Amino acid sequence: MYLTKEEERAYDGEFGWAKQVCMRILVKLGELFDARKLIPIESAHVSGVSYKTLGEAPTDFLEALASSGEKISVEATLNPQSFDPQYLRKRLPENLVRTQLKLCGFFDELGFMRSFTCTPYYIKAPRKGAHLAWAESSAVVYANSVLGAWTNREGGPSALAAAIIGKTPDCGIHRALNRKPNVLVRVEQPPKNEIEYGALGIFLGKILEDKIPLIKGLKNPTAEDLKQLGAALGSAGMVNMFHYRDGATKTGKLERITVEPKNVMETIAELSTVTSSKPKPDLVFVGCPHCSVNEIRKIANVVVNKKVRDNTEFWVCTSCHVKETSKEHVRKIEASGAKIITDTCAVVTWTDKLGIKTIMTNSAKTAHYAPTLNKADVILAPLKECLKTALKE
Ligand code: F3S
Repeated sequence: MYLTKEEERAYDGEFGWAKQVCMRILVKLGELFDARKLIPIESAHVSGVSYKTLGEAPTDFLEALASSGEKISVEATLNPQSFDPQYLRKRLPENLVRTQLKLCGFFDELGFMRSFTCTPYYIKAPRKGAHLAWAESSAVVYANSVLGAWTNREGGPSALAAAIIGKTPDCGIHRALNRKPNVLVRVEQPPKNEIEYGALGIFLGKILEDKIPLIKGLKNPTAEDLKQLGAALGSAGMVNMFHYRDGATKTGKLERITVEPKNVMETIAELSTVTSSKPKPDLVFVGCPHCSVNEIRKIANVVVNKKVRDNTEFWVCTSCHVKETSKEHVRKIEASGAKIITDTCAVVTWTDKLGIKTIMTNSAKTAHYAPTLNKADVILAPLKECLKTALKE
C-alpha cells in the first residue's frame, strides 16, 4: 500500500503513539481489502458508544487514546450512548451511568461532537460524492444510497482511527466500480408504509449478503421510508448501499430476485413475537433510526390535546439537534405525556432494567434486535397503530 512521506512518519511513530496505532489500524484494513492508498475523508461517525453494546473490552484503548492528547482531525460525530440526560439517567443503576459518563468523557477529550445520534446527516448532510468513514450501518446505507456520499461500513475502531488521521483506505465502495448494482430486485407490490419498507429490508438483507441491489417497484418512497429500508437492510445483512431511482443503471446481465407481497407480510409476522389483536405493550417506541424533524412534526400533529395511556410509556427518540430545532412540536408531544428521548434509543439502553417486557415499534430494525438485545417481546406496527395504542381514546 502506498503511503505518503507524512503517512509513513505517522506509521513509524514519529508523531506519537496514538497516531501510530491509528495508522496501523487503517493500513492493516487497507491491506486486507486491497487498497492502494489512503484517501481524505470529509467526516467520521463512530459507533459502539453505548456502554450496553460496547462492554468493557475497548475501555482501556479509548482511555489511552484520550489521555495521549491526540485529537480528531475531521468533523466527527458519535452514535447514541446508553441513556438520555432527562428521563433515563435517574432510572438506571448508578454504576452503569457512571461508566457511560466516563466513556463519553474519553470521546470529549478526543474532540468528538456530542451528537449521540444514528442520524448524523440531520445535523449536517454530507456532500454528494464526499468520502466518509461512518460506522453506523443505518447511516452508512442512507449516506450511500439516498445522499450520494461514499462510505464503507466501518467498525468502531476503524472509524475512530479515521477520525484521528482524517483518512480511510481507498477500497470497497470508495471506488466507483464497486458501487454498481450486482442484483436486480423487482418488488411486485410497492410497500405501503414504513413497516413494509422495513420488512422488505429485513427480507432482502438476509438473502443478499453484501450485494448491492437495484430495487425496482418502490412507488414514490419518502426519505423516511428509505431510511427504514436501509436500516433494516443493514441490520439483517451486510448490504451497504442500494439503488432505487429509475434509470439508475443498465440492468442487462444482473442476477434477478422477485419479492412477492407474501414475503413482506411473512417477514412482518416473523418480526412480531406477540400476536394478540389487543396488544398491551409496556413501551411504545418510535425513532429507530432517530426521528427527523418531519417525523416529529407528524407525531405532534396527532398527539396534540391527547394523553398517553396509564401504564404505557411512549418514547420518541431523536437527536438533541432535532429536538432543539423542533421546539413547538416537542412541547405538544411532551404535553401528551410522551417522552422525547435524546442521545439514546430503546435498543442501546437497558429497557429490561426499566421493567419493560413488551415493546411496540414501527421500526423493523428494532423488532429484529429487541428479542435478543432487550430480552423483550415485540409488536411491529405502523406509526398510526403505535399512536393509537399509546394514546387514550
Ligand atoms: Fe439508531 Fe438505536 Fe435504531 S442507534 S438505528 S435508533 S437501534
